[in-house]
Amino acid sequence: MRRVFNFSAGPAMLPEPVLEQARDEMLDWHGTGMSIMEVSHRGKAFLSVAQQAESDLRDLLKIPDNYEVLFMQGGATLQFSLIPMNLAGGMSAEYVQTGTWSKKAITAARKICPVEIVADTSATGFDRAPDQAQWNRGASAAYLHYCMNETIHGVEFPFVPECDDRPLVADCSSNILSRPMPVEKFGLIYAGSQKNVGPAGLTLVIVRKDLLDRSPESLPDMLSYRKVAEGDSMVNTPPTYSWYLAGLVFQWLKAQGGLEQMERRNRRKAAMLYKAIDESSFYSNPVQTSSRSLMNVAFTLSDSGLDGEFLKQAEEAGLAGLKGHRSVGGMRASIYNAMPEEGVDALVRFMQEFEKSSA
Ligand SMILES: Cc1ncc(COP(=O)(O)O)c(C=O)c1O
Repeated sequence: MRRVFNFSAGPAMLPEPVLEQARDEMLDWHGTGMSIMEVSHRGKAFLSVAQQAESDLRDLLKIPDNYEVLFMQGGATLQFSLIPMNLAGGMSAEYVQTGTWSKKAITAARKICPVEIVADTSATGFDRAPDQAQWNRGASAAYLHYCMNETIHGVEFPFVPECDDRPLVADCSSNILSRPMPVEKFGLIYAGSQKNVGPAGLTLVIVRKDLLDRSPESLPDMLSYRKVAEGDSMVNTPPTYSWYLAGLVFQWLKAQGGLEQMERRNRRKAAMLYKAIDESSFYSNPVQTSSRSLMNVAFTLSDSGLDGEFLKQAEEAGLAGLKGHRSVGGMRASIYNAMPEEGVDALVRFMQEFEKSSA
């Protein structure tokens, strides 16, 4: 089989042992004679999978007991709307604008409640996490929302914003499980699954239980955090196979030594790549050093006319998915948990050879 390192931003690479286990269990899950995707979500087999996945996620992120874990659908995009629908309660909400994804969250929220932008880095090309001393906070708001890792611009917050008594809400779609996280500082954390969690189709929501009281009775059950929590994330048929695979990923993460170990590995991978970029005059990365993402490394070539050739040769060398997002161009290497260090090493060697051959 051809070995390919997949640097796609999502759906993204999954750990090979997880895919192998899924393959081995595909036709006969634990002696049942059936695939886990063929059985009822309310039966013993799937319920054990679902409960184990939640328990492993709780262990990994050290989620306190006063938080509910919801396994939802609709991606992070639906959360952009559900957050104000459930939490705003007729008040305004505060947002930090640091790139494409927080902008989308703002656009969606504006349809539901008044939005105050407390900080905006568009003037510097979304190149940083804004210094909190400069934020323009109001006297009251239902919550404060930010995107912890802007997947497209490759900007990651190196700090957790201070939020007084307002719930802090974070989009962690592209960096959840990449390192330990102080869950107790947040009101709500959400993430689409297709980067660091598993295949697409599942959306994780970790929400402080007292906030469930804010969900208006008028909301349809599928859109209400309170109703989804009361229904154990099974208001309707959940995406059982994605949930099962996410559970395998959580077990893999535990076997790797948990999130402290993942953070060490992720820091080594990112450092290797940023060093190669910084040491060359051929490649560059515009993000302020302290805000550089550990997960999504965006870079440009000094001559954008070579972009096509770079991507073609990279594909031939088994390095896939390096094209930057269509809105910003250039390149982007997404190096989530499942990307091994040897994948980043192979990319760095390829970049150095490409630079030499283009001189
Ligand atoms: C930070 C962030 N937020 C939200 C989204 C949207 O996620 P979904 O496609 O799951 O709705 C993405 C997708 O890439 C993302 O990277």
